[in-house]
Amino acid sequence: MMQAKLLDVRDVTKSFGGIQALGGVSFDVYQGEILGLIGPNGAGKSTLFNVISGLIPVTSGDIVLGGTSLVGLRCDRICELGAVRTFQSASLLIGMTVWDNVHVASLFRPREHYARESAADCTARAIAFAGLQDRVNAVAETLTVGEQKRVELARAMASAPRLLMTDEILAGLNSTDSQGILDMLVQLKDQGMSIIFVEHDVRSVMRISDRVVVIAQGRKLAEGAPQEVARSPEVIKVYLGGRYAQNH
Ligand SMILES: Nc1ncnc2c1ncn2[C@@H]1O[C@H](COP(=O)(O)OP(=O)(O)O)[C@@H](O)[C@H]1O
Ligand SMILES: [Mg+2]
Repeated sequence: MMQAKLLDVRDVTKSFGGIQALGGVSFDVYQGEILGLIGPNGAGKSTLFNVISGLIPVTSGDIVLGGTSLVGLRCDRICELGAVRTFQSASLLIGMTVWDNVHVASLFRPREHYARESAADCTARAIAFAGLQDRVNAVAETLTVGEQKRVELARAMASAPRLLMTDEILAGLNSTDSQGILDMLVQLKDQGMSIIFVEHDVRSVMRISDRVVVIAQGRKLAEGAPQEVARSPEVIKVYLGGRYAQNH
């Protein structure tokens, strides 16, 4: 069965003064898939999320979500259209409770969602999904790292995304907390969500991704099924090295 294309990243470049962080990157994301995005530090992964989510403008190229170009749109509008990201370093609102952190995000869900569910119901659903029911009244800075990452995910869910972009959401987590997050991502995919999964832990990427894109120095190095990409001599040379043995 042909999957429907959700996101079209077309020849995107991004320069910061003399530094070209993205040098013409193209790829698609289909509905209901997890696309793993890996590459060395400084490859441009976070920059890619920044331009897709409208935090910073592209230098050139196009980004199309469900037929609508996101280029030039404000980030709150892009969020309403369904492209939602989490941040590499915690972005929780300090001094505010888990409930308030998630509730704020629910205000950026698509308009058509408003009629279906109240902001409070949406907030409660996202908090329950992330297993944070017992922590609703906890203030952000009192949470463990694992709980903070789950709030990040709940915030993203509260915006009712079509495309979820997670930026190193497993960083700093123990294996139990990591597994919990991975289970949640797979559950979302099974519900039809599309996910771009940026992660340093290659084993997790290879395990849950349907396809993998590798970028290095702002350019796409490889794209394909996890096992195919893991065997690519160039990917092994530039990024994987011995970190991910072929027999996994
Ligand atoms: N706001 C910025 N201003 C200047 N340079 C930046 C900015 N954001 C990222 N860069 C540069 O762009 C490159 C890609 O960075 P980044 O996207 O953070 O990589 P990754 O997330 O893959 O580690 C790096 O060289 C980084 O220093
Ligand atoms: Mg990054």
